[in-house]
Amino acid sequence: MKDKKTVITYGTYDMLHIGHMKLLERSKALGDYLIVGVTDENYDRSRGKLNVVESTKKRVKAIEALDFVDKVIVETHKNQKAEDMVKYDVDIFAIGDDWVGAFDYLNEYTHVEYLARTEGISSTKLRRENFDVIKMGIVGVGRDTQSFINESEFVSNLKINRIYSSDFLTVKNFTKNSKIIKYGHDNYDDFLDTSIRAVYIDTSLDEHYTLIKKAILAGKHILCENPLALNKNELKELLSLAKKEKVLLLSALKTAFLPAFNQLLTELDGGIIGEVKEVRATRTSLYKEKNYTDEFIAQGATNILSSYPSLLVSKILGKSNSISFFDQKDKGYDISNLIVSQHKGGKVGISLVATGIKSEGDAVISGTKGYIYIPAPWWLTQKFYVRFEDEHKTQVFNYQFDGCGLRYMIAEFTSLIQRDKRKSKMLTPSDMIRINRVLLEYNERDKKSKESKKNKK
Ligand code: CTP
Repeated sequence: MKDKKTVITYGTYDMLHIGHMKLLERSKALGDYLIVGVTDENYDRSRGKLNVVESTKKRVKAIEALDFVDKVIVETHKNQKAEDMVKYDVDIFAIGDDWVGAFDYLNEYTHVEYLARTEGISSTKLRRENFDVIKMGIVGVGRDTQSFINESEFVSNLKINRIYSSDFLTVKNFTKNSKIIKYGHDNYDDFLDTSIRAVYIDTSLDEHYTLIKKAILAGKHILCENPLALNKNELKELLSLAKKEKVLLLSALKTAFLPAFNQLLTELDGGIIGEVKEVRATRTSLYKEKNYTDEFIAQGATNILSSYPSLLVSKILGKSNSISFFDQKDKGYDISNLIVSQHKGGKVGISLVATGIKSEGDAVISGTKGYIYIPAPWWLTQKFYVRFEDEHKTQVFNYQFDGCGLRYMIAEFTSLIQRDKRKSKMLTPSDMIRINRVLLEYNERDKKSKESKKNKK
């Protein structure tokens, strides 16, 4: 006969409130020993809980500080509850009655008890009450503009209501056809002079620098498609200006904010494949077949696509000591580029980007004990395989995301503004410098080689 009765319960416990405390107290009263599972942020985001404001660490600390809690664990994946019931020899699983029926399947392992929820309070309500609605404007009509607007509907406390484009007709058509965007501007200064606190920039790449600079000086927070600028000095200038003016400047690299991508980095940090020695990633897209303009394609494969593989390489291997480019050109611009970078300790990053060649868009991260394979399209990371010499040891990680993946980035951007933060841990200013460095370096070398060819003539 067991001498103590173990009770377990799970939750996010964002902005710990009286409803949580009452439920935990009542759960403890059902037995002698209370275990609380706090959901991990990547897991929460992968199950659609996008707007949680506190980190896993902060939420765990708050629960640990409660007298009636005996043990805190972190819930990281879907089937963990059943595993925990066995692991901790749980007698009772308790949960609020907003979940009635959802956990009946656990009766196979333990006794499931649904407890009355406290009326009139929730984390969602607190988040709504504690944070202002952030108004945001869209700059330009680009590849991702419409999806961006649709996805922003899933982020709480964010309202997109304005658009700017230098082309009057574009603005007119967009506002006419949009249920969300009410106001259109073809004058950037007038647009910036409204109550919007943030902008999302999705224009042609050569306009980014000027548009970002003006927005910073107008005190707006900025989310901009990468690259932020087309030369190193301009990039440095923008980042230091944003710091000086205390505004948030973030590259719109959606991969960096996906739950699975962040879980992958956590697993690598934990040494799952030993020491990582090589990272390979491919991203190709035949834009011509997708009816993109010649003008768009002439920006070159490196400028359009390299940010994504560079993100993977630099997040894992850090700063590069040297970069080599093996490009293939057509009509003066690169239609493909094999980018090889060397990092501390001789580690190697290999990226293939192309707009004129089609290839498999997967990624392989190789370590001393095993490797991680991310199937195509790796930049929309949902699933990854961890494989070893012994093939029976393969592990599969599966973190599905909702929509087209943009909502995780928009949620992080909004949450940073709400919490008065100017840096994202998922994509730091150093990350942005490293990622942009690759294409800026290429542009510089390309410019020099074109100039020297001209001089020879
Ligand atoms: N809970 C409760 N009474 C409330 C709110 C939550 O008893 N007013 C319980 C839930 O039923 C669950 C636990 O507290 O068992 C953790 O819930 P969680 O989802 O973290 O809190 P919510 O406030 O419901 O969060 P959200 O609004 O983000 O869904």
